[in-house]
Amino acid sequence: MKLLITGGAGFIGSNLCDFFVNNNYDVVCLDNLSTGFMHNIEPLLSKSNFRFIKGDIRDLNTCRDAVKGCDVVLHEAALGSVPRSINDPITINSTNISGFLKMLVAARDEKVKRFVYAASSSTYGDSKELPKIEHNIGRPLSPYAITKFVDELYANVFTSLYGIETIGLRYFNVFGRRQNPYGAYAAVIPLWVKTLINHQSPFINGDGSYSRDFTYIENVIQANFLAATISHEEIVQRASLYNMDLPQNAPIDLVFNVAYGGNTTLNELFYCLRDNLAKYDSKIATIKPTYRENRAGDIPHSQASIIKAQRILGYQPKFSAIQGFEHACEWYYKNIKG
Ligand SMILES: NC(=O)c1ccc[n+]([C@@H]2O[C@H](COP(=O)([O-])OP(=O)(O)OC[C@H]3O[C@@H](n4cnc5c(N)ncnc54)[C@H](O)[C@@H]3O)[C@@H](O)[C@H]2O)c1
Repeated sequence: MKLLITGGAGFIGSNLCDFFVNNNYDVVCLDNLSTGFMHNIEPLLSKSNFRFIKGDIRDLNTCRDAVKGCDVVLHEAALGSVPRSINDPITINSTNISGFLKMLVAARDEKVKRFVYAASSSTYGDSKELPKIEHNIGRPLSPYAITKFVDELYANVFTSLYGIETIGLRYFNVFGRRQNPYGAYAAVIPLWVKTLINHQSPFINGDGSYSRDFTYIENVIQANFLAATISHEEIVQRASLYNMDLPQNAPIDLVFNVAYGGNTTLNELFYCLRDNLAKYDSKIATIKPTYRENRAGDIPHSQASIIKAQRILGYQPKFSAIQGFEHACEWYYKNIKG
């Protein structure tokens, strides 16, 4: 099987490239290096089953070149971060919607069998339901959330009009090795870890009671592997375990939550990261957080139901958030220090 991994020099994409290259799949990685880094894929460049294309998904010819001969696309390329999308909705829209559409068109024309794409828990918007179940979403709360929802709509329409199989993986707060701790739009875990390693006090927005379903990167790799490789027949068969009646001969258009299914408050996260890092540097053990105002648009709690992915894909996340924090802290301590 030959895969195209877009955004393959980024955090999630480079971990997917590692996994598939090391498991002897042929991998093409397309990335414009806007938020990704060559050093994330450096060790893969010498491998015969890996090809890197520096290019932009907003250019249709680049998409066509990259997808040539591929059986499956894992589409990770996008501009993340809700605050970035609030500051620059136009660039977010062109990358996350126009770029997505161009990749879909290229994949359709190249007769790619399956298009797996990074969707987002932000699609649940202002829905207060917990845990979040795939078919029940609210109104989007940011330009970023709009783009990720529109992607799902496009995927759905492309499946019904052109017959390309699409699987959206709604990631919930993914973290782990290589997630970028630098820059104005760094995610909370790498940002706090870097701040603690520098012996500074991280900011907690609000009183720390807000909670998230933090998802370790290994679980995300597993979900992508299953989504890329499970057969159409098996999906149709397993869908009945979820009381879903999928027709035998119709192409698949499905969306799954990808998470651990737990919830960790920001206070718990802070103390867990601090205690893990204190194993390497005892000065970190006494750092206290600094509380400040809640951030506009943040929902209080987010927790996934993962039953659909468990039943239909056979997804079984191996790493709890707590186990993931331990691995991530070790990696950051060695890599930020080193
Ligand atoms: N990290 C999370 O918690 C999370 C949660 C939900 C969804 N997602 C989605 O997962 C995907 C990967 O996110 P990530 O956290 O690895 O982010 P990342 O920024 O590390 O990776 C994104 C990659 O896409 C590349 N890229 C951006 N614009 C591009 C363009 N126009 N053409 C080609 N490449 C381009 C970047 O250079 C980068 O390497 C994104 O689609 C993101 O929206 C991530």
